[in-house]
Amino acid sequence: MKTPTALRALIDDGVIDEVLRPLKSGKEAAVYVVRSGDDVRCAKVYKDMAQRSFQQRVQYQEGRKVRGSREARAIGKATSYGRKQQETAWKNAEVDALYLLREAGVRVPVPYGYYHGVLVMELVTDAEGFSAPRLGEVELTAEQAREFHAVLVRQVVRMLCCGLIHGDLSPYNVLVGPDGPIVIDFPQVVSAAGNNAARQMLLRDMNNLTASLGRWAPELLDTWYGEEMWALFEAGDLLPDTALTGKFVHDERTVDVDSVREAIENARQEALIRQQGREAAAMDD
Ligand SMILES: Nc1ncnc2c1ncn2[C@@H]1O[C@H](COP(=O)(O)OP(=O)(O)O)[C@@H](O)[C@H]1O
Ligand SMILES: [Mg+2]
Repeated sequence: MKTPTALRALIDDGVIDEVLRPLKSGKEAAVYVVRSGDDVRCAKVYKDMAQRSFQQRVQYQEGRKVRGSREARAIGKATSYGRKQQETAWKNAEVDALYLLREAGVRVPVPYGYYHGVLVMELVTDAEGFSAPRLGEVELTAEQAREFHAVLVRQVVRMLCCGLIHGDLSPYNVLVGPDGPIVIDFPQVVSAAGNNAARQMLLRDMNNLTASLGRWAPELLDTWYGEEMWALFEAGDLLPDTALTGKFVHDERTVDVDSVREAIENARQEALIRQQGREAAAMDD
């Protein structure tokens, strides 16, 4: 195919040899299948920052380390310098997260570098070598759903042990490879220690996964892994392989348990409705 402008510099530098085909183009990024020597990989090109809502990003940035106070101040204010820095920080966050998480044994695509604003990484494929489907697009048996859920809980725990929360974890940011689920799409990754909204984001991430997999194995809907791992994390007792039960006793002295459960149940229902909407939209494509 004709080389997209954003990928020309990578060909000129010899990072990739050829662009084979477009894979997916969404609101935030366009992903291409590319060839580097004998390897087929994928290249994620980030769309222009101007097309995305800027203010929304600021909350995610809270707690992420930014070099130099000028940069930090600029990111806080929506100046054009701030936007430029923000864009750089945003794009690098995904690359940094992939290297860190891969190192920590989290199931994410192998990163092959970040060049001219483009992330080159492993193309996750299914058993036949086709690009892998997303978790929200496959049918599962109850047993598979339980197994995938357990694997994903473990990935979320390992991320948390690295101090990170995905922040946009949904069945559309999980690919199904021959060996099970692989988590993708990290530009909005959140620092677990420095962000006031970290707990909420973790619970939302876990709820999205639980609501989705709970369609195939309804007993999952009565598990509370997010709450459980956060309590252990806060107490400094969470390790990458800490065994979890999915049971969680809410602290009745400080919170109204029923309203908490109700709020979480509402979030699950919302996630389900959103997902069904996406599925309907995907079928229209
Ligand atoms: N490493 C990968 N291997 C296979 N497919 C991928 C990979 N990364 C992304 N994709 C596909 O491209 C889509 C968009 O990528 P993603 O990183 O989720 O960006 P965004 O959702 O912001 O557009 C994914 O839903 C998935 O279908
Ligand atoms: Mg995505």
